[in-house]
Amino acid sequence: MARKVVTPGGCISGIVELPGDKSISHRYAILAAIAEGRSEISNFSPAADCKSTLTCLRQLGVGIETRRDALRIAGAGLDGLKAASRTLDAENSGTTMRMLAGLLAGQGFASTITGDRSLRSRPMRRVIEPLRKMGAEIHAKDGDVAPLGIAGRPLHAIDYSVPIPSAQVKSAILLAGLYADGVTTVRESVRTRDHTELALREFGATLEVTQGAVRIHPRPSLRARKLLAPGDLSAAVFLIGAALVLPGSELMLHNVGLNPTRARVLDFLIAIGASIHVASLEMREAELAGDVSVRHASLAGGSVSGAQVAEMIDELPMLAALGPFTEKGIEIHDARELRLKESDRIATLAAGLRAMGARVEEFPDGLRVEGRSAGKLRGAGIDPQGDHRIAMALAVAALGAEGKTAIGDAGCVAVSFPDFFEALDRLRAAR
Ligand code: S3P
Repeated sequence: MARKVVTPGGCISGIVELPGDKSISHRYAILAAIAEGRSEISNFSPAADCKSTLTCLRQLGVGIETRRDALRIAGAGLDGLKAASRTLDAENSGTTMRMLAGLLAGQGFASTITGDRSLRSRPMRRVIEPLRKMGAEIHAKDGDVAPLGIAGRPLHAIDYSVPIPSAQVKSAILLAGLYADGVTTVRESVRTRDHTELALREFGATLEVTQGAVRIHPRPSLRARKLLAPGDLSAAVFLIGAALVLPGSELMLHNVGLNPTRARVLDFLIAIGASIHVASLEMREAELAGDVSVRHASLAGGSVSGAQVAEMIDELPMLAALGPFTEKGIEIHDARELRLKESDRIATLAAGLRAMGARVEEFPDGLRVEGRSAGKLRGAGIDPQGDHRIAMALAVAALGAEGKTAIGDAGCVAVSFPDFFEALDRLRAAR
């Protein structure tokens, strides 16, 4: 899809079955690959990022069958991965690259992993440094960016405090810790998503989790599992955003992943006036999930900063795009990390929203988007810089603008939510 024209207005209503959670799908695939036996994962994410993980795992000798109902992975065992004959390609996926860096650091063979232009500009030193402390031999371009050459070495256990909150870095160290010579401890001062910890436990690893620290024991015997990935809240949030922008909207989302380290965005939306209700909340295997209903409501606006940021990092583009539809606007601080995502999300959001007539102030660590008093948005031509979450966030803003918006390179949404535009069209046609 080269370009998507978004026509404003109408409302959305109906029931949504979401794609499987992208973050969780990566982890289930990786752990299934090194478990003993055949795992089955239902509702595996259709995101291009997860396909990148599967392609890399296949190149490492893992048998993976994609069935309509579930993904089947024939585990190679902890020591069963094979050297890939070519460079591994994580494409646009930071999670694939950083988690595989951890997995590959302790193997008995060498690997090279690269990515697309965006990923090749994203910082990797944050994962290289702790892995080197464990004894890994990793070379990166300019010491910081992909391609990464990973030699594969015997690893030592470390006790490491992650300086920048990052679930990807934590996960890379925990995966490397499976191959270390003792118990590895990862400490974080700010809570980040804990899917890796939950998945490791589900596959049979031994780990101790205390406030701010995770200790992983090496060389567990991981057993194959049958697992269901819950619906992806980070995808759902764009449909929730659409319901909040369009008056008269009413939406029901089934089986949404509501892990507390991810669901903070819903608390924030409720606190600023959104009408959101959660029902049937229960543990479905390793993860908490439930049904979420949303009704259009008037939003007060508000600000996000501090420890909240890490728990809502992927939802901040959507929140910023809601700014012009709120009373007081949306302000985000302490989110410098947004500049290091698939695009510089502070800059791409500011440019896109300004092109639509929003009043935006950019800060080094965030932005402020003025509320309704700054005037109605107008349709514009938008370049999301190949960033899936920017394309979706601006598409949602476009629903509440005057006139049509053309989103360039809109196919980039496939990175996390391939059917986003189809879902939106279907839900708008439902009334
Ligand atoms: C992810 C962690 C976050 C998030 C990314 C997915 C994960 O990145 O932004 O989309 O699956 O662990 P960081 O670890 O860089 O914060």
